[in-house]
Amino acid sequence: MISILPGAPWLIAHRSMLGVNRPNKVTLNGQDYVLWQNNRGEIFALENICPHMQAPLSNGWICRERNTITCPFHALEFDGEGKLHREGKQDPQPLARTLKITTIGECIWTYGNCEPRLPIPDAIAKLLQNMTL
Ligand code: FES
Repeated sequence: MISILPGAPWLIAHRSMLGVNRPNKVTLNGQDYVLWQNNRGEIFALENICPHMQAPLSNGWICRERNTITCPFHALEFDGEGKLHREGKQDPQPLARTLKITTIGECIWTYGNCEPRLPIPDAIAKLLQNMTL
């Protein structure tokens, strides 16, 4: 994947569009990601590729109890760190790749896993201060 403007921040979602315990597909620089928000408001992001046989995780479902996303092909479960959950245990090493995100107010930003070179602009947060979406 070639990153456009590596090091620039990208606004990829607003919290209101994510719903709760629902997978959401987001595309940045030609790479698909899956985002979900749990009922505590925590947001997680993984590359939208199951490490088993590359199924799109965004077509899967969220387990509320374990806070995992389940692959739609063979039902492997991954947490927000990309670690596999099976038989009540969590693997120590992540298998699925994460996307680093920053949540400011209701906006979800990312540098697409590149080294940040520019600050996240505050203009959007200022504009949204008195708005309800
Ligand atoms: S492709 Fe995801 S579990 Fe097999």
